[in-house]
Amino acid sequence: MHNLTQLKRHKMRWLAVPLVLAGWYYIWMPLVQMAINIFLSPAIKVGARNQVVDLRWHAPIPTQINSLKSAINGSGTYGFIFDSSGLPDRVPYGTYNWCNMPHVRPTEYPKVNDSYVLTYVEVIHRHHKRTPYAANTFPVESYPWYCDDEALFLYGAPLPTQSANQSANTYWKVFNSPANPLTAKGFQGTCQFPQITRGGLDDSWQHGQDLYQVYHNLLGFLPEKYDPELVSLRVTNNVITSQVASMVISGMFGSQQQNFPLLIQPSSIDSLEPGYSCPAAKASSSAYGPGSKDTGWNAHLEAAAGLYADLDSISGVSPSDEGFHMSLDHYFDNLSARLCHAKPLPCNISNPSRCVTQEMADEVFRLGEYEYSYLYRDAGPRALEYSVAKYGIWIAELAENLWNAIVQARGNGGGMRYRHNVAHDGSISCVLSILQVEEMVWPGMGSEVIFELYKKREGGKYYVRVLWGGQVLRSSNPSLGVLDMVEVEVLLAYFDGLVGHGANKVPGLCKL
Ligand SMILES: *[C@@H]1O[C@H](CO)[C@@H](O)[C@H](O)[C@H]1NC(C)=O
Ligand SMILES: *[C@@H]1O[C@H](CO)[C@@H](O)[C@H](O)[C@H]1NC(C)=O
Ligand SMILES: *[C@@H]1O[C@H](CO)[C@@H](O)[C@H](O)[C@H]1NC(C)=O
Ligand SMILES: *[C@@H]1O[C@H](CO)[C@@H](O)[C@H](O)[C@H]1NC(C)=O
Ligand SMILES: *[C@@H]1O[C@H](CO)[C@@H](O)[C@H](O)[C@H]1NC(C)=O
Repeated sequence: MHNLTQLKRHKMRWLAVPLVLAGWYYIWMPLVQMAINIFLSPAIKVGARNQVVDLRWHAPIPTQINSLKSAINGSGTYGFIFDSSGLPDRVPYGTYNWCNMPHVRPTEYPKVNDSYVLTYVEVIHRHHKRTPYAANTFPVESYPWYCDDEALFLYGAPLPTQSANQSANTYWKVFNSPANPLTAKGFQGTCQFPQITRGGLDDSWQHGQDLYQVYHNLLGFLPEKYDPELVSLRVTNNVITSQVASMVISGMFGSQQQNFPLLIQPSSIDSLEPGYSCPAAKASSSAYGPGSKDTGWNAHLEAAAGLYADLDSISGVSPSDEGFHMSLDHYFDNLSARLCHAKPLPCNISNPSRCVTQEMADEVFRLGEYEYSYLYRDAGPRALEYSVAKYGIWIAELAENLWNAIVQARGNGGGMRYRHNVAHDGSISCVLSILQVEEMVWPGMGSEVIFELYKKREGGKYYVRVLWGGQVLRSSNPSLGVLDMVEVEVLLAYFDGLVGHGANKVPGLCKL
C-alpha cells in the first residue's frame, strides 16, 4: 500500500514535468518564435501556419553542370540528349532529353504504399517542342521549315455550341505571295515562329496519355471521363501552351467532340506565364544576369569568346547583336530546335563548307545548362529572391489549392482533384529555384513538376510529395530535403514565409 502510493506520487511528479514543459511551451513559444523572426530574420522564420522552417537560400550541389571548367573545356553533353524526342537504345527513361523531358509514366512511377491515400494532384509542365522563336533565328536561313502536317485552329463559337449558328473549324495557313516584295526574317516556309511542331503535338498527346495511365489506370484517382468538377486545365497567354493543352487533354480523355475550357488569366496579371510586372525582379536579374556587369555571369561569356567568334562568322549574326551575345539563349534555341526536328546544323550561306559542328553545338548546350544553374541557383540568395518575386503569385495559388484540397477532404470530399498547368521554361525554372532543387538544369521541352497531396490513413495527417521528371525532387533546403512525404504544413509554411498568404508579400517584393 505504502509502496504503491509512493509509486503513484512518483509517477505524478514525472507527469508534472511534461505539463510544466507544455505550459512553458504555450506561454513562451510565441515569444520565442517572435524572437527567432526578429533576430534570425530572414534566416529561420516561423511561417504563418506555425511551422518553423528555414527560408534561407542553400547552394546547389556542385556538378559538371555548374562547373565553368566543364562547360568550357569539357566535351559532349554529360549524357543529356538533344537530338530527338526518343531516347537512343539502352539510354534509360529519366535521362535528360531537351526535346522531350522525362515525366510521370506507369513504368517508372514510384508508387506510394497503402498507408497513404492520394487526395490532390497539381501538375505544371513546359510546353512541348516547337519551332524557334523568330528572334532566335539567324538573319538568313539556308533552308525553309514547313508545318503543313498540322493546323493551328483559331475560331470563336457561340455558347452553347449546339445552338443554331454553329462555328466552322477554321485554322491558319501561312502563305507567301509573289506580289509581296518583302521577305520575313529567318526561316521561310509555312510555320509560325514559334508554333508547336507536329512532333511536339504528338509528344503532348503521349504526355497526357502517360499521366492518365498513372492517375487513372494505375491509381484510379482521375475519373475515366473528363469531369469539369474534378479536373481543370490552365494555359498562359502564349498560344503555344493552348496548342499543347488540346493534345494533352485528348491523350487523357480522348478526342470525342466535347468542349474543354482552358483557364487563363488576363495577360497583364497572368501568374502562370508569368506575365505580371515585377520591376524589382527585373532590376535584380539585370544586375546579375544577361546584360549585367556581374563578374560571376560574365566569366562564362568571356570564356566563350572563341566559340562566339566561330558561331558569328558561320551564321552571319553580328558580333554586336546584343540578343545573341548577352547569353547563349538564342544560339541554344536556334541549334537545339533544329536537332530536335532532325534538321542539320546550319552552314554559312556563302561558304557552305563552313558549318556549325556538333562540338560547337555541344559547347553551346553545356553553357546553356550552366547559365540556367547560375541564374536560378548558383547566383546566391538573389536568385531565390528573384524567383520568389517573379513567381510568388503562382506559388501562393498552389498553396491555396493544396490547402483547399485538405479543407474539402475534411468536409464532404468533393471539389477539384487535379489541376494541370501548361507553361514555359521560365515558369518551371522559377518553381525549381523556389524549391531549391539540388541540381538545376535548363528545363527542356515538356519538363514536368508534380505536387501530390496524400492523407495518411492512420492519424489523418497530410503529406506532400514533389516529382520532377517523374522522380522525387531533392532540395538543398534542409526544411524540404527529399520532397517525399513532407508534412504539408512544412511546405505551406515555407511558401507562406516566402511569398505571404495569398501572395501578399509579392507586390512589395516586386516594388509594384
Ligand atoms: C580551358 O582550358 C584552357 C587551356 O588549358 C585554359 O587556359 C582555360 O583557363 C580553361 N578554361 C576554364 C574556364 O577552365
Ligand atoms: C509505406 O511508406 C512509408 C513511406 O515511404 C514507410 O515509412 C512505411 O513504412 C511504408 N509502410 C508499409 C506498410 O510498407
Ligand atoms: C538561328 O539563327 C539564325 C541567325 O539569326 C536564323 O537565321 C535561324 O533562323 C535560326 N534558327 C533557329 C532554328 O532558330
Ligand atoms: C443566328 O444568327 C442570326 C443572324 O444574326 C440571328 O438572327 C439568330 O437569332 C441566330 N440564331 C441563334 C439561334 O442564335
Ligand atoms: C558567311 O561567312 C562570312 C565569312 O565569315 C561572313 O562574313 C558572312 O556574314 C557569313 N554569311 C552568312 C549569311 O551566313
